[in-house]
Amino acid sequence: MKALVLSGGRATRLRPITYTSAKQLVPVANKPILFYALESIRDAGITDIGIIVGHTAEEIKAAVGNGEKFGVNVTYIPQEAPLGLAHAVKIAQPFIKDDRFVMFLGDNLIKEGITHIVQKFREDKDADAHIMLAKVKNPQEFGVAELNGDRVLRLVEKPKEPKSDLALVGVYLFDSKIFEAINAIKPSARGELEITDAIQYLIEKDYIVRHYLITGWWKDTGKLEDMLEANRLVLESIEPKIEGSVDEASTIYGRVVVEKGAQVVGSVVRGPAIIGQGCHIENSYVGPFTSVCNRVTITSSEVEHSIILEDSCIKGIGARIEDSLIGKNVTVSKDNGKPKAYRLMLGDNSNVSVI
Ligand code: TTP
Repeated sequence: MKALVLSGGRATRLRPITYTSAKQLVPVANKPILFYALESIRDAGITDIGIIVGHTAEEIKAAVGNGEKFGVNVTYIPQEAPLGLAHAVKIAQPFIKDDRFVMFLGDNLIKEGITHIVQKFREDKDADAHIMLAKVKNPQEFGVAELNGDRVLRLVEKPKEPKSDLALVGVYLFDSKIFEAINAIKPSARGELEITDAIQYLIEKDYIVRHYLITGWWKDTGKLEDMLEANRLVLESIEPKIEGSVDEASTIYGRVVVEKGAQVVGSVVRGPAIIGQGCHIENSYVGPFTSVCNRVTITSSEVEHSIILEDSCIKGIGARIEDSLIGKNVTVSKDNGKPKAYRLMLGDNSNVSVI
């Protein structure tokens, strides 16, 4: 079997971070989301991986390389524009050939991995596709499956009035019938070749499409809240480890990782939290569910339930920063000068709320 990981796309819902960075490389517990996908594919015994890349191709290639560090072989497949999930599969046909394969959305996280999912498909030699479903509160934001007993009746992409709360999880298993399906479908109203339409074609042709309910947690990290939630869920089971320095005036509670070269001075860190390499945390509070990436400085400030990317600096902020995603090389500081005012330089589509 092979694997196809989709790491192109527009990522409009995570702007402005995604103007300059690939969303699949935003770290969750200080590890890019995409790496979790590659590791779970490898753990399922698949080493031949095609990665669909778009305008962030160079960044993805720099982070993943040829796959050696994950113990896999990576082939990059450029997609000229984000023309849909099924379009990404279509252009991967020369890589997939006649093999069966797992398709994995590069911004999805499945905590329990995909080993059992892949194993089931390997054993089910007659099946043309397996799809994974999960109950969600907001089905209108997903591809949704309508079932009749054990049969999938219909798949609808982001329905305005969903007939079920079962969303399609971002992991699909296919054989080469999917290429026949994609060649038969037309772009949707939003101009994309939809994978839901391709699977619907398989169902209508009476090909064998089976569905399974995912019981563990799964997150599509396309939006800020989901990214923070994924970060929370991964941090919950992090192994505590202090490799950096923590001075006597500091207190560490619960599951906390302080990586090499990080310094915690006169501060309180309440886990689960991770402080990356070379960080400097001084006279500050880092609260639960916070991931602080490498070389971040936090002084005289409080941060909780947030992700702070590399090389950023937070100093002297009076109020606690919460529920935030702060990009690379960002400075957030308090200015005691006059006039008393907020001074902002924010990228397009930024989002700031002040008190
Ligand atoms: P989506 O989250 O559905 O789309 P998007 O990344 O363009 O985001 P937004 O809706 O915020 O604009 O994509 C799921 C995954 O598939 C993600 O990792 C990007 C990838 N993708 C492709 O590789 N090619 C495509 O044509 C599309 C639509 C998505």
